[in-house]
Amino acid sequence: MKKLAERALNITPSVTLSIDAKAKQMAAQGVSVVNFGVGEPDFDTPAHIAAAGIAAIEAGHTRYTPASGTEKLRQAICGKLQSENGLDYNPAQIVVSNGAKHSIYNVLLALCDPGDEVIIPAPYWVSYPEMVKMAGGTPRILDTRENEDFKLRPEELEAAITPHTKALILNSPSNPTGTVYSASELQAIANICVRHQIYVISDEIYEKLVYDGATHVSIASFGSDIKELTIVVNGMSKAYAMTGWRIGYSASNQRLAAAMGSLQSHATSNPNSIAQAASIEALCGSQYAISVMLQEFARRRRRMVELLNQLPGVSCRMPQGAFYVLANITQLLGVSYGGEVILDDVSLAGVMLERAHVAVVPGSGFGARNYLRFSYATSMENIEAGLSRINTFLALRVLR
Ligand SMILES: Cc1ncc(COP(=O)(O)O)c(C=O)c1O
Repeated sequence: MKKLAERALNITPSVTLSIDAKAKQMAAQGVSVVNFGVGEPDFDTPAHIAAAGIAAIEAGHTRYTPASGTEKLRQAICGKLQSENGLDYNPAQIVVSNGAKHSIYNVLLALCDPGDEVIIPAPYWVSYPEMVKMAGGTPRILDTRENEDFKLRPEELEAAITPHTKALILNSPSNPTGTVYSASELQAIANICVRHQIYVISDEIYEKLVYDGATHVSIASFGSDIKELTIVVNGMSKAYAMTGWRIGYSASNQRLAAAMGSLQSHATSNPNSIAQAASIEALCGSQYAISVMLQEFARRRRRMVELLNQLPGVSCRMPQGAFYVLANITQLLGVSYGGEVILDDVSLAGVMLERAHVAVVPGSGFGARNYLRFSYATSMENIEAGLSRINTFLALRVLR
């Protein structure tokens, strides 16, 4: 049999999905598993948004739309970017896709030639390096430090730029760290990107989920030079509890938007027409549901951080955004639990699932070896029960 393409062979299988698959298999066998692995809000899509989807079906909006999205939705996105982010775009600069993930992939397809490097600060969202590789580029990972809130140091960014550097992927608020960059930190990064003329893929999907007075600022808002180089990526999934509807979008300079629209027109055509109609309501209708979800996430975040820091050998910082906590487990390495020695984050996540029936995601998949990612997109009851199970499990500690 002929071999598969290098592109397919080069992809690293997702650790996120393998733990998730195992947790689901255990649950199907009747085991009660507390799942901290989830990457989606546990709330339903707000009723007025769902109703707009139903109305779209009833009104017959069930046909192909323009490949880059309906004019009405692209106008609504321009309105949102103007009023919330201070960014002036016209509909020809917007490409609506099947989720923000698809938008990022479109950007990379439109930007990367073989040999082009894309800088990705670690910890990063699992899919970035893989998507860069799928697009033919080379991921260039830049480590950050926990005691600096996992923020990219401007001088290290500048030192990593080579003649092959095409773009930087920035994700604030971040999955998996919850880090939110301040305006002045973004300004420093923007200055470097403008000086070296590299693109910034700014993944702002968690923009609505910020806590303790932190504010989200788009790096594109620091003037026309950086705006020209920035591709703002956002979507409906996290802010509006619409993960299954699959709508994301990019805003960029018009040349790039046209290229991405063409690529998309041949690969997937338009995103779902019904979901596009519902997204107009999400952006233009009442935003009340967001504040309710945000309040609940804020409450859970505090409790989860408090309980995690009470676990022996585990520590974490208070994240300012998204709905994840990245916990440091280096003190647990080499420790034996019921005969099983913890070698790294992957082995700890495996043992915790088997013995404590708690699913978490090992940090390795995010370029954060010896960390575990806990999602608090689950009920307070689950947070308390899951962390109590881990506490009981960690008490079985036997020093080697
Ligand atoms: C950082 C980040 N970007 C993008 C996405 C993709 O979101 P979607 O494709 O559902 O819009 C996710 C989803 O988990 C994410 O965590």
